[in-house]
Amino acid sequence: MKKIIQVQPWIDHQEANYIKKIINKTFLTEAAETKKFENRFISMFKSKYSIAVSNWTNGIFMALKAFDIGKGDEVVVPNLTFIATVNAVIMAGAKPVICEVNEKNLSLDLEHYKKIISKKTKAVIPVHLYGHCCDLNKLKKISEEYKIKIIEDAAQSIGAKFNNKYLGTIGAIGGFSFYGNKIITTGEGGVILTNSLKLKKKMYELKNHGRSKKGIFKHNSLGYNFMFTEMQAAIGNIQLNKLSKILIKKKYIYNNYKRGLSKLDEISFMENIPSNKPVFWFSNIFVKNKNKLKKFLEKKNIQTRDIFYPIALQPCYKNTKLIIKKKKNYNTSNKIFNTGLSLPSSYNLTKKEQIFIIDSIKEFFKK
Ligand SMILES: Cc1ncc(COP(=O)(O)O)c(C=O)c1O
Repeated sequence: MKKIIQVQPWIDHQEANYIKKIINKTFLTEAAETKKFENRFISMFKSKYSIAVSNWTNGIFMALKAFDIGKGDEVVVPNLTFIATVNAVIMAGAKPVICEVNEKNLSLDLEHYKKIISKKTKAVIPVHLYGHCCDLNKLKKISEEYKIKIIEDAAQSIGAKFNNKYLGTIGAIGGFSFYGNKIITTGEGGVILTNSLKLKKKMYELKNHGRSKKGIFKHNSLGYNFMFTEMQAAIGNIQLNKLSKILIKKKYIYNNYKRGLSKLDEISFMENIPSNKPVFWFSNIFVKNKNKLKKFLEKKNIQTRDIFYPIALQPCYKNTKLIIKKKKNYNTSNKIFNTGLSLPSSYNLTKKEQIFIIDSIKEFFKK
C-alpha cells in the first residue's frame, strides 16, 4: 500500500484551469475575483461583511487591533490550539491568558474561563478546534457581563454550526483559514467576517496601509499590507464550489472510523454539545498508548498526526512573560495531548485505504 497521507487538499484540473483564466486578465493583486470570493462568504455564511486577508493569523491580529486591544490588555485563549491564535495576541501587544479546555469538545472550559477573567480582560478567542465548539450562548452571557469582545477562531470549522448559525458569525468578529491543510485552501489566506460596518472599515484600512481604497497616497491610519491576490481568489472560488462535497466526505470518513473502531474499549472519540453541528476537519481518536500505535501505523505507511501541543508547555514561551498561565498543571489539555491522534482524513481517502487503516488499528489492539 502506498503511503497514506494524514491530510491533503482536494485540488485538481478545475483550479488549474481557472487560475490560468484569471491570470490572463493580468490583475494579480486583489480585484474582481477577490470581490467575488468575499461576496460568496456574505451570502453563504449570512454575514454582513467579509474581508479576504493574506492569512488568518493576520486576521486575528486585525480583529484585536480593530477593538484597540494592545499593551496592558489581556485576551483569553484556549490551551489547545494552533499557536497562531496565541501569537496573534502577542503581535497586537496584549497578553494571552491561557484557559483550560473541555475534555469532550476540546474547546474553552467555561468554568475555568469565568475564574480567569480580570479587569484587564478585553477579549476572548474561542477556537472551534477540529470543527467543534463550546456552548457559545454561555460564553456570550459571561462575556457580555464583563464587556469582553468575542473573536471566533473558526480556522478549522468552516461550515459547522451552533444553534443553526455558522461558526465564525456568532462573535463580533470571526474568520476562517485557508492554509494548505484546511477544509478548503487557497495555499495561504483567510477571510474575516463581521456584521459591523465600523469594524469592517477599520479592518480594511489595517490590511491596506491605512487607506480606505487603493491608488491614493493619503493614509488615514497606521496600516499594514495583508492583501489577498487574484490567484488565491481563483483557487478559493473553485474550492468553495467543492465545500459541501468535502464536508459530506469528511463526515462519512469520521462515521466509518466510528463504526469500525468504537467497539474497541481502548478507543474514544470527541463528543460535540447538542447545539453544535460539527464538521470533521480531522477524525481524531483518543488512546492510552498513542505513541506505540502511531509507530505501528507508521510502519504500515499510515501517517497520523498528534493533537495540538498545549500552549502552556510550548518551549518558545518557557521562561518568558509572553503568556499568562492560570494553572500549575492543565491536566485535561495534557491528557488530550497524551492520548489524541488524528487519523488520515483527506477528501481523497479511498474506501480501501480506510478499511486498511481500521484493520491495522484493530490488529494493534489484538496483539
Ligand atoms: C486554530 C487556528 N488558528 C489560527 C490559524 C492560523 O491560520 P493561518 O495559517 O491562515 O495564518 C490556524 C491554522 O493555520 C489554526 O488552525
